Amino acid sequence: MREKVLITGGAGFIGSHTADALSKHGYRIRILDNLQPPVHSGKWPAYVLNKGFELVRGDVRKKADFLKALRGVSYVYHLAAYQDQRPDFSKFFETNTVGTALLYELIVEKKLPIKKVILASSQFAYGDGKYQCVHNAHPSPMLRRTRKFFYPEPRTERQFKSKKFDILCSHGRIAKFFPFREEQPLVPTNSYGLSKEALERLAFRLGKTYGIPTTALRYSVVQGPRQSPKNLYSGALRIFTVQALSGKPITVYEDGLQTRDFVNVNDVVSANILALKNPRTNFSAFGGEVFNVGGGKAYRVLDFAKLVKKITGSSSPILIGGFRRTDTRHAVSDIGKLKKLGWRPRFAPEKSVRDYVEWYQENF
Ligand SMILES: NC(=O)c1ccc[n+]([C@@H]2O[C@H](COP(=O)([O-])OP(=O)(O)OC[C@H]3O[C@@H](n4cnc5c(N)ncnc54)[C@H](O)[C@@H]3O)[C@@H](O)[C@H]2O)c1
Repeated sequence: MREKVLITGGAGFIGSHTADALSKHGYRIRILDNLQPPVHSGKWPAYVLNKGFELVRGDVRKKADFLKALRGVSYVYHLAAYQDQRPDFSKFFETNTVGTALLYELIVEKKLPIKKVILASSQFAYGDGKYQCVHNAHPSPMLRRTRKFFYPEPRTERQFKSKKFDILCSHGRIAKFFPFREEQPLVPTNSYGLSKEALERLAFRLGKTYGIPTTALRYSVVQGPRQSPKNLYSGALRIFTVQALSGKPITVYEDGLQTRDFVNVNDVVSANILALKNPRTNFSAFGGEVFNVGGGKAYRVLDFAKLVKKITGSSSPILIGGFRRTDTRHAVSDIGKLKKLGWRPRFAPEKSVRDYVEWYQENF
């Protein structure tokens, strides 16, 4: 009998690609999704239909729905999430954190034989991350070495308004950013990031206590077809493509020099599958294993906007300005830990843009 995998949020972008790949690997697929607007319009998307997937419409916040979906499965990908930067703070925790607690509660309460849980976390859990003061104020080399790293609080409204976008050290100089590493402190800038940090912590704690192998994957900005243009959170590729193809100005926040790393959805899928198959992703001394899943290369957002403009052949101007209060200045992940297990990103952002633009033009 082929093993069954539950994918929560499987009608979405990453979940549906993961379902396709797992199905090719011989797993039976069940999807639990509440078909939440604005990503969905209340109907199952065509790309999950007629593929032999079992489709369960339900909500990860509802015990009866989640239990129904969990019966008879061996593995769970928990991808359903609320994602945005809106001020309905409680909804992030309700969906992302409480939903995850409910998953473990049901596994324990009903003694469900789940072999592994794989959780979608996010680069957003890091917040602004790790910085170094490069102003060598202290004459002692030892103090220079030990005192200059810091993990900044989110930038203030005042900073944004005065267009001082960079993270500054205590000397008022631009500090140096370090790509996110899994073991560093998490200082999320918003409720989404906080809800992801919290879900990781509780999943690792419960997973360890009750012997449920658990892996969390902190995705960077994921790109590719099926990334809903209605999802306000889906980031630069969606926004720039829609603007470029409609001839409207391509709007780049801050000064455009902020950096991101972009990862193709096919690379995310291969990381998801590795997490299911490789027991070295299960537990660490901290009670669970967490891995960054990123593109491995920093891009300036302005350069990315230029790339979208070039690939779409758009004559839209690129407008620089504005800001989003809880954006991070740089968000680039170090992917060394997952690479040690044999994974690496294979698809460059150019391919993601081409594939997304093609898909968008066919579907909208
Ligand atoms: N796309 C990215 O760039 C990115 C980056 C980092 C992390 N992630 C994480 O990866 C996961 C998948 O993201 P995605 O880009 O595929 O998003 P998506 O919006 O395309 O898919 C999410 C799916 O979850 C479903 N859903 C939402 N709330 C639900 C609920 N209460 N009950 C059941 N289903 C619900 C939605 O209907 C949707 O189909 C999320 O956990 C997200 O936080 C995504």
